[in-house]
Amino acid sequence: MVKLTFVGADGRTYPVDIEAGSSARDAALCNDVPGIDGDCGGVCACATCHVHVDSAWIDRVGRLAEGSMESELLQFAEGATEDSRLACQIALEADLDGLVLHVPAQQY
Ligand code: FES
Repeated sequence: MVKLTFVGADGRTYPVDIEAGSSARDAALCNDVPGIDGDCGGVCACATCHVHVDSAWIDRVGRLAEGSMESELLQFAEGATEDSRLACQIALEADLDGLVLHVPAQQY
């Protein structure tokens, strides 16, 4: 299992556990984390799973790859920053145990 914590725009925290290999989008949806809708089913086509990776974790998760489909989608997302990622594109393996993701205020 991998543990991660979502932090809402109001500061409320949502600690969740999920099987390794799952995506952060699935972790949010399985645990009813508000603000993460994941409407496209996790195929990088909607940006409703936009998160800001905590600054302590962004190097381990990795920033957006320039020119990627994920990058193209996020350029139109409200509140996107250099720490933005799509939760459906973050695969949760043991090296991300303890990950912290912030839900943008624009998604409520
Ligand atoms: S769930 Fe649609 S882009 Fe992530």
